[in-house]
Amino acid sequence: MAKHIHIVWHSKTGNTAALVKALYDGISHSETVNCRLIDALNPSIEALTEADFIVFATPENFGYMSGGLKHFFDETYYEVEELQLALPYCAVISAGNDGTGAAREIHRIMTGYGFHKVVEDQIIKGTPSPNDLKAFTELGIALAEGLSLGIY
Ligand SMILES: Cc1cc2nc3c(=O)[nH]c(=O)nc-3n(C[C@H](O)[C@H](O)[C@H](O)COP(=O)(O)O)c2cc1C
Repeated sequence: MAKHIHIVWHSKTGNTAALVKALYDGISHSETVNCRLIDALNPSIEALTEADFIVFATPENFGYMSGGLKHFFDETYYEVEELQLALPYCAVISAGNDGTGAAREIHRIMTGYGFHKVVEDQIIKGTPSPNDLKAFTELGIALAEGLSLGIY
């Protein structure tokens, strides 16, 4: 049966969006793992209940995740708490010069969600370079393979 990676994302000026597209392209190489893009501004519990693996992708704004991703968490927390989903996840941060604050605060929220981090934080500073995008496509391929093999 096919497995599902969902990417919950928000981007204001396009950098996070470019990383998400490269990741999506990599996952889409897989014949056994499907990828769905979830706009963080349109939260739904199905974005989580129908996923086997979640990627949260956001710019760092004022040392925090974007308001868009925070909105997704605000809107889904009570249902997640009831369902006890315990999903594996990975954080993708696009930052000007830091990114650690957004990553740290996502992990704090994930403690409440009961989700577990299985991949190192992916923090890219500035406009993603062709090499960054290539690395994200390769990461997508690796995530899909790992999920398919039951590593996550
Ligand atoms: C309102 C605002 C606040 C920001 N705060 C930070 C910050 O705290 N740390 C940082 O490294 N970059 C910060 N940046 C830069 C963005 O994180 C960076 O430009 C990022 O690549 C934008 O991603 P996006 O194109 O997906 O919107 C900020 C940008 C804006 C517009």
